Amino acid sequence: DPDSVTDVKSITLTSFIMRHTRDNNLAILMNAIQLSCKSITRAVRKAGIANLYGLAGTENSTGDAVKKLDLLSNEIMINALTHSHVCSVLVSEENEDPIIIKENMQGKYCVAFDPLDGSSNIDCNVSTGTIFAVYEKKEGSVGNIEDVMRAGIDLKVAGYCMYGTATELIITFYGSGVHRFTLDPSLGEFIHVASDVKMPTEPKKIYSCNQGNYGGWDAPIQRYVDGITAGDKPYALRYVGSMVSDVHRTLLYGGIFLYPADKKSRGGKLRVLYEGFPMALIIEQAGGMASTGMFNGSIQRVLEIKPTSIHDKCPIILGTPSMVESVLKEYTA
Ligand code: AHG
Ligand code: MN
Ligand code: MN
Ligand code: MN
Repeated sequence: DPDSVTDVKSITLTSFIMRHTRDNNLAILMNAIQLSCKSITRAVRKAGIANLYGLAGTENSTGDAVKKLDLLSNEIMINALTHSHVCSVLVSEENEDPIIIKENMQGKYCVAFDPLDGSSNIDCNVSTGTIFAVYEKKEGSVGNIEDVMRAGIDLKVAGYCMYGTATELIITFYGSGVHRFTLDPSLGEFIHVASDVKMPTEPKKIYSCNQGNYGGWDAPIQRYVDGITAGDKPYALRYVGSMVSDVHRTLLYGGIFLYPADKKSRGGKLRVLYEGFPMALIIEQAGGMASTGMFNGSIQRVLEIKPTSIHDKCPIILGTPSMVESVLKEYTA
């Protein structure tokens, strides 16, 4: 019974990291990230009591109306990562410019993060999350924007925390598969529940997108969605509106998640550095596929995009490979 106090075999994220890496800096980084996620999960769960719902009254660099919890989550992340002394450059959805850590507090990691993903869902208590992507500073760099203006294939770590019925943390150390942890609130520890998580080979026929944008999609995307919703066995539509929740369900159940370019967002809505890259890396490491569809004249693997600015956006089509392939076929039909 995993809940019994005698369950000595379950291991915490901290001991998992110590066991799987001899890199002390990585252990310190992961501690800072997991502390942030614990603090944010507490803020999210107390928001209704602590008057943390509602707008902060400002707009961020991608034009989102910022919520009070966006700002609190952002401060929590920046504070924890800055004081870890293992980071040099931070990129946040909520900061116009990169944060360059003071020389005497610098370390080798550069972290791009979305402190609170799906924040439009906060005020009605629908699940949200935190997403993070970690590069190592380039050789000899003193820590600047060039350390994060890199393709996703250069990432060392990617992960997300989902504030759902349970608080779950999904993380991949690039090349070593996807690991899953669940927060045990009575211990205040993330407990390791699965290693090498793989998308199901018998995926559920689920598609996940904002159907309301159908009119603005290009014809291949419209043809794909028409195809899977025609006939007597249509796909089911499941859309939370928080990327973390829609990707977590896609990872565990299979299916396809898409946020294509549309007439109002020609480059898509999701941000490359702290949404596209980390989710694409996790999905690929779990045996899935993550493409941009037709983007700037070619069909690209999300992880191979070369960002030119820290809030760049890209269209995202990710999930069960055969389903992503079916979308791409519509471009060559
Ligand atoms: P964020 O709250 O961090 O700005 O991200 C919101 C994103 C993503 O979580 C979700 O997939 C997408 O916005 C939903 O967009 P629509 O409301 O346009 O469907
Ligand atoms: Mn936002
Ligand atoms: Mn987001
Ligand atoms: Mn956000």
